[in-house]
This record gives sequence, C-alpha cells and structure tokens, in this order.
Amino acid sequence: MGKIIIFGLGFVGITLAIFLASKNQNVIGVDIDKKKIQVLKKGISPIYEPRIEHALKKALMKRLVFTNKIERISKDDIVFVTVGTPSKKDGSIDLKFIKSVSKKIVELIKNMSDLPLVVIKSTILPGTFEDTIKPIFIKNSISSKNIVINPEFLREGSALEDTLHPHQIVIGGERKTAKTLEKFYRKIYSNKVPIEISNHTTAELIKYANNSFLATKISFINSIANLCQTLPGTNIDQIARSIGRDPRIGSLFLNAGPGYGGSCFPKDVKALISLIKKRHLGSDLLISVHKTNLNQVKIVLRLISKYVKPLKNSSISILGLAFKENSDDIRESVSIKLIEKLLENHVKVKVHDPKAMKNVEKVFGKKITYYKHPKDCLKNSNCAIILTSWKQYFSLSNKEFSKMKTPILIDTRRILAGKKINVKYIGLGIGE
Ligand code: UDX
Repeated sequence: MGKIIIFGLGFVGITLAIFLASKNQNVIGVDIDKKKIQVLKKGISPIYEPRIEHALKKALMKRLVFTNKIERISKDDIVFVTVGTPSKKDGSIDLKFIKSVSKKIVELIKNMSDLPLVVIKSTILPGTFEDTIKPIFIKNSISSKNIVINPEFLREGSALEDTLHPHQIVIGGERKTAKTLEKFYRKIYSNKVPIEISNHTTAELIKYANNSFLATKISFINSIANLCQTLPGTNIDQIARSIGRDPRIGSLFLNAGPGYGGSCFPKDVKALISLIKKRHLGSDLLISVHKTNLNQVKIVLRLISKYVKPLKNSSISILGLAFKENSDDIRESVSIKLIEKLLENHVKVKVHDPKAMKNVEKVFGKKITYYKHPKDCLKNSNCAIILTSWKQYFSLSNKEFSKMKTPILIDTRRILAGKKINVKYIGLGIGE
C-alpha cells in the first residue's frame, strides 16, 4: 500500500488527514497556503472542532506530514482532492481550485505507466467530472479511468465523529476503480457501512440532492414555525416531534430556527438552482427553499422591532455567532446577517460566542462590542437573542438575565423554553 496524498486542507481535508493517519496510513496533507501549513505543522488547527487539536498532535507524532509542495506521486498512492468549490455570483460553483489541483496531479503523473487512484471529495455539480476534470487529463494523454467521485457528508462540529462513523459511502466511477476504493474503505470501516457505487455524474448529484433535501426540510419546518408564531398556544417543537414520528418524514432536521447557514447548504442549494435553470427546468421548489431561508432573518428582525421600541439606539445582545454550535465558522451565519441589519438600524450590538468571536471581529471590528461572558454581554441590554445552540446557553438563568435593562429574550432555538427565568420570553415558533 502506498501513501495517502490530500490536496486541500479545509474542513474535509484536515479531518480526513487526521483520520487516515490514525488508521495507520502514511498521509501527506498538501495546501498552497504556506501559513496554514506552518500552523498545522505545529499541531495547531486552523479550524475549530471538538478534540481536533489533540487528534492532530497525535497524528503528527505518527504518520501525518504537511507540505505546500509535493514532488512525487507513486502508482500505489491514493490522491484525495478536498479543495473548496466556492459560490460564484450567479450561484454556480467556482472550479478554479479543482482545475489547478487537477493540473498539478497531471503534471506529477504524466510520465507514469500505472496511474494512482484519484479520489475527488470536493462538492462538484453533476457533469463537472465529464466536462471539466476528465478533459484536463485527456488533453495530456492521461486516462481518466482511475478517477472517482466520493462525496463527503461530514458535518462541522462533529467532523471527526462523522468521519469515523459515516452513514454511507458513495463512490462514482468506473466499476473496477470504484471497487479498488471500496476495498480500501472496507479495511478501515466496518462491513455495516453501506457503499453505493454509481457512475461519476450520479455520485456528484447524490451530494446535491442530499444537502438540498435537508435544506428543504429546514425551510419547511421554519415556514410552519413562522405560522405557529401567529397562532396562540401552538408550539413548533411539539409539531416537529409529532410529524417526525411518521417514518416517511423522520425526526431529524426539523429543528426550526433562524435559518440554515454554513459552508454547504446555502452554497449547494444555490448551485443546484443554477444548474436546473441552465437546463431550462422550473426550479421553483429550491428557489422557495432558498427564499424562505433568506426571509428567516427578517422574521427575527420583525420580532425584535415588535418588542424593542424604539429600536434606534437600543442595546441588543446576540448570543451565538457561529452558524452552529461546536464550531467557530461564521460563513453564511444568520448572526452576521442580523448584526448587519441591526447596525443599519443604529442599534448598539453586543455579542458573545464561545469560539467564533475572533472571526466576527475580522468582519465588524469596533462597530460592535465583544464579551467573554454571557452575563457581561447581557448587562444593561434591551433585548437578548439566542441564535446558536451552544451548550453553555442551556444553563443561562436569572443570574445572567437579571442585569438587563429591559429583560426581553428572543430565543430562536427555544433552548430556554419552559425555564423559570424572569424575562419576557419569545420563542421562535411558539405562538404568542
Ligand atoms: C451540512 C450537512 O449536514 C453535511 O452532511 C454536509 O457534508 C455539509 O453540510 P453542516 O453545514 O456542517 O453540514 O451542518 P448541519 O448540522 O447540517 O447544519 C447546517 C445548518 O442548518 C446550520 O445553520 C444549522 O443550525 C441548521 N439546521 C440544521 C437547522 O436550522 N435545523 C435543523 O434541524 C438542522
């Protein structure tokens, strides 16, 4: 068995590198960002994930190295591509990193008679392999038969755990090549993990269908939650619990909230919409999913305006800045969008987050005030808004809320619903 080479050290790449090293594979992590490599070499993770630095340090002592330059690939190596595919203005994805890494791989393997296995984990729209990746190889007279599509389903905040226990593995490619990767994964994972083998394009689409369906579930439950808000005595969590018992619906991803954020759902829904449009098919469903999601921040703002009067010059505390708990990621975070809207309304914004404050400071600098403890963030405030379900917010009590100027709490995740706290409590999706 050769070594593992991973191009692109974002969430997926770093997690995969650590995981495979822990499974006794010799791993080389490659990224063009020199600073990132320097940091990783020291055992410091550029991303926050629970337990990641401990796992990274352990892997570095064993079989993991990082570099920004790779000189050689051997035929027995497995090359993983985990570079980002960011959104372009029209919603489609930017393939510049996919193209540059493909070219780099071509350069390294062009004189080899036996080719290594190349595994594309980056999220790419259906047709990208056929229309973009394959031609780069063919143009250089290199067969593309050893390239497979292997989408990743890990979630931020539980990236290591999800990599350790995937619910399935999808491999798209020529059967023989796909079987080679299947054999590799079977050595690592239990026989119970289902492996779906398909052609390249189907595997590409599985990833988008998966994420778009989950986003649809969230926008659906958010629509019902907004309706609940107007129906006294109704409760979205009870509705979600009840409909979730229907096995045809399922209980997961029915947590109403301020809307989905992060590096995947917003980007993937937009990309699928752009593809459907290109094919001249009506894309009303996903456009609605996307619009419903964008509207959620306005719903939160409307709630604030209803209870905080006047809004201008009021002081508002935002609890939770990361797009989800256990993460420092603020990409497409609803908190960022809400802060922007509050600042437009001349509100004094005070914020707290256990991990994401550094990243938020890069966006807003001195325009808002940062607090290390929720209690200080709430002091003298006119309204508090919980946007992220951090564990520490579940135990907030009168001790923290008692120093507010006007004790109003808008809980978009309903984590303090039913708790005895002396505040005007507004739970998103709980009929007023
Ligand atoms: C998602 C997919 O779950 C994962 O499979 C894929 O590989 C990448 O995209 P991630 O973005 O890390 O993962 O987090 P996820 O837990 O899916 O949450 C995404 C967003 O949806 C968050 O903003 C979260 O708060 C929100 N969400 C999720 C809800 O509002 N309600 C829910 O019920 C679930």
